[in-house]
Amino acid sequence: MESLPAIPENLQIKEPIHLRHYLVNGELKDWDGPTSEIFSTISSTKEYQKTILGSIPTNQESEAMEALDAATTAWDQGKGLWPTMKVKDRIECMETFVKKMEEKREEVVKLLMWEIGKSQPDSYKEFDRTVTYIYDTIEAYKTLDRNSAKFEKYQGVYAHIRRGPLGIVLCLGPYNYPLNETFTLLIPALIMGNTTIFKPAKHGVLLIAPLLEAFQTSFPKGVVNILFGRGRAIAGPIMKTGKVDVLALIGHSSSANALVNQHPKSNRLRQVLGLEAKNPAIILPDADLDLTVKECISGTLSYDGQRCTALKIIYVHEEIKKEFLKKFAKAVDTLKFGNPWDEGIDLTPLPEPGKPDYIQELLDDALEKGAKIVNKNGGKRVPNFIWPSIVYPTTKDMKVYEDEQFGPIIPVISFEDISQPLDDMAASNYGQQVSLFGKDVYALSPLIDTLANLVCRVNLNSSCQRGPDVYPFTGRKDSAQSTLSVNDALRSFSIRTFVAFKDTELNNETIGQLMEAKVSNFLSTDYIL
Ligand code: G3H
Repeated sequence: MESLPAIPENLQIKEPIHLRHYLVNGELKDWDGPTSEIFSTISSTKEYQKTILGSIPTNQESEAMEALDAATTAWDQGKGLWPTMKVKDRIECMETFVKKMEEKREEVVKLLMWEIGKSQPDSYKEFDRTVTYIYDTIEAYKTLDRNSAKFEKYQGVYAHIRRGPLGIVLCLGPYNYPLNETFTLLIPALIMGNTTIFKPAKHGVLLIAPLLEAFQTSFPKGVVNILFGRGRAIAGPIMKTGKVDVLALIGHSSSANALVNQHPKSNRLRQVLGLEAKNPAIILPDADLDLTVKECISGTLSYDGQRCTALKIIYVHEEIKKEFLKKFAKAVDTLKFGNPWDEGIDLTPLPEPGKPDYIQELLDDALEKGAKIVNKNGGKRVPNFIWPSIVYPTTKDMKVYEDEQFGPIIPVISFEDISQPLDDMAASNYGQQVSLFGKDVYALSPLIDTLANLVCRVNLNSSCQRGPDVYPFTGRKDSAQSTLSVNDALRSFSIRTFVAFKDTELNNETIGQLMEAKVSNFLSTDYIL
């Protein structure tokens, strides 16, 4: 591979960020304990070497307990300022936060590129999508609140039904969307009145530093607590106390299960989880091949395949296998590798130092078991990248069939009988999405009916994706628990709770007075416009 262009002046790392604070109880606390170095797999020099970006506190169990105490005090058995605050006031805090966050766009985007190797356009997209998500959440919450600003009456009983917070939320996000996906948990959890403890992902952690002050100054103390360090040291002890009401995690089911199992009363724990997936593409004989290739390229390789929604296995019908593989291989080999800020690049350095070796291991195993690399560049390596390989024929004994590869390797299987991909999907541990390529409505219709029961989104002639964020994002089996979307997340982080009263003179008079006095924040028919 050719050498990469020089790094633009404004994007060079001149001063590493040595973060020595963590946010607990509204205070940016000084840290002089152990620290962890943060580096990028992107080289700043011609001769390859990792770039030191800075360091973060390695918070320990004692800080975890401090954060938990702060969140518990802010919740205050449901009596806290935040959980009982008027909806309109909580919205105001969120608006203050998002405005302060917008000022940090350039800083956060630069760190996104360095820390996780995401391309510049996609890094901007991640930031802007998150800001839009926050504004949309505010609007959705206003609508939700307006819809509850009323009394219902059934069988002589009045009810004023709203959605209330659940309590204390422990929030853990993934490295591939360290801003967006973490915030799609944190923001709805907060706005619904919960108090939170948040630990950023292992990669994509320094980018939280520019936002610490915004968190500190926008919300009452103890409502947002931010810790740094290792999940096991921080999250485990917090879960063991049994004080967490919601585990909000986007990551692997093994991490989620390990945490859930530490909670002494898991029946009390709500789980909002976005987990692993192995979304297949199914290509029928009459598929429009150019379109299919284009969608399979973005589906398998945007952000080097490091998306839970990525297409991670391709089933192609025998009749068009040859032509598809030829076109697909050519398209993969024309993709351009470069640093995130380089012009017109498609593939970028992998942020996990061990990832190229892991992908190599999958590739070697597949080759040993009879597969071939279909594209010319497949498997070529530089220190921080391995070129995507299309691997065919893939068989079930290969590791790449079983593992969620989360990186640039694309297993392909050909089929004659459509029951093969369907049976494989039914037997799989995952159930997030599928992409179905074809035109014949008589072939598509029964397939759609079945696939809709195997996964939670059937993408017709389109790659899999989470967005637009107003649509439900969820999965079956090991792929998710609860549903996320701008609207659904508000529901996931709250519970229906209501005031009921029999239609009697005394009650009606009392409620009339209550409404007039306007002293209850819960019992209110005020409209937020
Ligand atoms: O990692 C999984 C993300 O939810 C994928 O989101 O489809 O917008 O890339 P996306």
